[in-house]
Amino acid sequence: MARTTFAVAVVLGALGLAASAGAQDPIKARQAEFKEFGKRMGAIKDTVIDRKGGTMADVAANAEYLAAKIPQIPAWFPEGSDKGETRALPDIWLNFADFEAKAKNAASLAQALVVAAKSGEQMATAQAFGKLGQEGCGGCHQPYRRPQN
Ligand code: HEC
Repeated sequence: MARTTFAVAVVLGALGLAASAGAQDPIKARQAEFKEFGKRMGAIKDTVIDRKGGTMADVAANAEYLAAKIPQIPAWFPEGSDKGETRALPDIWLNFADFEAKAKNAASLAQALVVAAKSGEQMATAQAFGKLGQEGCGGCHQPYRRPQN
């Protein structure tokens, strides 16, 4: 009986540890945030490029979400969080000021997309979307994210 209780306690202890490690893992947390970025960009693309529906108000709301979240990116990269299942390159911490500048630039491009979407101008909105994707997201991924194998 005592043995069973001990075994249960060990299993519960291991689960508790795993759960708290998951909650504090900055890699998993930021990857979840970035996945949401991908979803929002996909929804914007559906509306402004592929014309699959959705309104300019939806585009503005998604761009507003991105503009508010992007400035937080540097805080998701504590030093040493390039160890593990991550595509973050060590260069991030060698050039952290530049990494921050890339986040700032992406945030202002997201803000420009908000303005364009609110104007209702299709062309300007499509252009602002392309610029955010290429220069904003891509401009940081290119130097700081490991290419997918
Ligand atoms: C300042 C730098 C920076 C900016 C700006 C940035 N990203 Fe990233 N992104 C990264 C890094 C670094 C990773 C790798 C994170 C990891 O694997 O730990 C990443 C990972 C991702 C991933 C993969 C997440 C996963 O499933 O592992 C997606 C999707 C993504 N970013 C989308 C975006 C989109 C969309 C934007 C623009 C709206 C954007 N990112 C802007 C640096 C950036």
